[in-house]
Amino acid sequence: MDAKEYLMKTSRELDGPIRRYIGDEEPANLIEAARQYPYAGGKRMRPAMVLAAAGAVGGDISKAVPLAVAVEYIHNFTLVHDDFMDGDEKRRGMTTIHVAYDVPTAILAGDALFAKAFQIIAELDVPDRNMREVLRYVTQAVWDLARGQEMDINNERKIVSEEVYIETIRLKTSVLFAAAAAGGALAGGADDRTVKALHEYAMALGLGFQIFDDYLGVAGDPAKTGKSVGNDIRKGKCTVMVTHAIRNIKDPRTLEEFKGILGNADATEEQVARARSIMENAGSIAYGRQLAKEKVDEAVSKLDILAPGEHKDFMIALARYAIDREV
Ligand code: IPE
Ligand code: IPE
Ligand code: MG
Ligand code: MG
Repeated sequence: MDAKEYLMKTSRELDGPIRRYIGDEEPANLIEAARQYPYAGGKRMRPAMVLAAAGAVGGDISKAVPLAVAVEYIHNFTLVHDDFMDGDEKRRGMTTIHVAYDVPTAILAGDALFAKAFQIIAELDVPDRNMREVLRYVTQAVWDLARGQEMDINNERKIVSEEVYIETIRLKTSVLFAAAAAGGALAGGADDRTVKALHEYAMALGLGFQIFDDYLGVAGDPAKTGKSVGNDIRKGKCTVMVTHAIRNIKDPRTLEEFKGILGNADATEEQVARARSIMENAGSIAYGRQLAKEKVDEAVSKLDILAPGEHKDFMIALARYAIDREV
């Protein structure tokens, strides 16, 4: 199955619901700011995962739509705040909210999307116990995400171990995918064992996704990703590729040069390219991609619990796509 095509189809189907929940209200600039990312639409992997999980466990997909929208709003809220925290100017090919508007508006647009998400979850037509479980997963994800984002910031300009980095991305990225999968399964009426397996699937997928995202952040094409490229190097983000490079650069002069570029906010395009080529030569890029693949293989293995079918096929394809994309 072609994940990208299936994802685009699902994304189109979600366009209406995603737009429906934010009405025209005052102040118009806040509403516009809150709408920008959801309306622009990224890949919409998380809402697609909600729907696929609901379908894969034999549930009624239409009942999971509000949760899919809510998860995308939560994701978008974290992106608005993340872009300010990371000082990035481009997202989804557009100027980021704190730049296009201002920082107070970006904080409030994020908060507003966050609140709206829970208003939408309240519309879910599921038994009380499932509703409570959905809320437990989603709130835990946002809590963990804040912890992960703080760790990510605390790790800047520091060499941290691969273990610490993996824990950081588990918290900042995997938990929301995991809430999407577990929540979708719960909306579809799955038993506890299946919910747990899908949670584990998405947790591992999220790790592979973020490791690959870090790769795109140094080697991607900004015209395709629609985001700033090279800033992780300038901010000295200690990704698995960077920790690998630090451990494996043999020549002390090259190591010094690499460390000099890493965390240099004013590093030029040439210096960033040089850091990338040093990592390439140290085998660090290949190492990151291999590690991402291992995580995705682990993710796919968790799906054995599902009966064969289109939704399961999509979940497998989505995991593969997480580490084989240009956007
Ligand atoms: C970006 O997520 C934030 C990360 C966790 C790396 P996506 O790559 O899913 O962004 P969109 O939603 O497609 O724009
Ligand atoms: C974003 O992580 C993760 C969030 C929880 C929002 P990054 O900062 O690494 O992702 P991009 O590159 O800005 O999308
Ligand atoms: Mg960022
Ligand atoms: Mg960030």
